[in-house]
Amino acid sequence: MMINMNLFSILLMALMGVPGLVAKVQISWDGKVTAGFSTTFTCSSSCFPNCIYSWVLKGRTIKGSTLTWTPDGQENTVDLLCTVLTSETVVFSSAISVVEIKNRLSVQVSPTNTVPSFKQALDLVCHLAKSGDFQGPSNPIWFKDGQKVTPSDKMQLLQNNLTLHFDTPLPSDAGFYQCEASLQETRVLSLGYLLSFDPWNITISGPDIVFPGRLYEFKCLTSCTLNLDCTVKWQFKHFPTGTYFSVSGNVLKWIPSIPGTFQNFTCIAENEAAGRSAQNTKMVEVKGSPQSGSQAAQLGGLLTMIHSLGLLMLFD
Ligand SMILES: *[C@@H]1O[C@H](CO)[C@@H](O)[C@H](O)[C@H]1NC(C)=O
Ligand SMILES: *[C@@H]1O[C@H](CO)[C@@H](O)[C@H](O)[C@H]1NC(C)=O
Ligand SMILES: *[C@@H]1O[C@H](CO)[C@@H](O)[C@H](O)[C@H]1NC(C)=O
Repeated sequence: MMINMNLFSILLMALMGVPGLVAKVQISWDGKVTAGFSTTFTCSSSCFPNCIYSWVLKGRTIKGSTLTWTPDGQENTVDLLCTVLTSETVVFSSAISVVEIKNRLSVQVSPTNTVPSFKQALDLVCHLAKSGDFQGPSNPIWFKDGQKVTPSDKMQLLQNNLTLHFDTPLPSDAGFYQCEASLQETRVLSLGYLLSFDPWNITISGPDIVFPGRLYEFKCLTSCTLNLDCTVKWQFKHFPTGTYFSVSGNVLKWIPSIPGTFQNFTCIAENEAAGRSAQNTKMVEVKGSPQSGSQAAQLGGLLTMIHSLGLLMLFD
């Protein structure tokens, strides 16, 4: 049974002899939750006769109204559940929070924005962003595609193992690199870096010429792996006019409405942590008779657009 009510009603019902009550449960914490840094979560409620708190985090149950936790960088989000019950009865109430975890530890190519090539030596660095008063990462170990890296003649560990150095990179060195290092007391797994020696290529599939009133699909095709090595976003100087427009990841759908116009779609693939990005633009011409696109249709289109705007969209 779940009961949400304020303290006043609880007291009132207590006076009326109701056996046990729990008010709405709230989970709160200060600041951002960051891998390697501890955060104290507080669960609060009001109960009659008194509250008993417990948490569930990553399958573990922890008792008490506060929970102090240091994420280890293994996940981007966790579900945090707090359950409150009273000592008298089985009455309880719970709240769940989806906690987003930042990770300041990453693998970066050094110097930054170097495009890896077979012609020159390369350094990968286990890097802690905005370390401030905190000590930098220590005792790093390296992973390539999830396997621990063993140094060799061609690949050396430098600067207390914070740098992975390749004298002459080989095609077999391409892969997904992560470091795991101590930040204060916790071992933290970094964000990854995809080492590849070709610049990413991006193409946008779909027609170059479109007609009003028909549905067209454009797909951003990338040589990087979506949502692993890179994320994709669409960009356009002028919002596309039409009766329907939607963006979902690398797929853009559009029903154009105004003939005689041009629309440019730019797709950008990027990996912010690795400092890599690539983009491509497709110019699409809307052809057909001017009668086929009406003002009313455009207005309807605008509402659809607002409804379907994705997070990955960006206006220039
Ligand atoms: C660096 O890595 C090597 C081999 O993996 C290890 O033996 C050594 O103890 C590490 N040094 C530090 C400072 O972490
Ligand atoms: C990237 O370029 C290569 C060679 O030019 C080509 O074979 C491949 O299909 C391209 N990939 C994409 C996603 O455009
Ligand atoms: C679209 O891009 C081309 C170059 O790629 C540019 O010449 C043209 O002016 C752009 N059109 C619009 C409507 O932005």
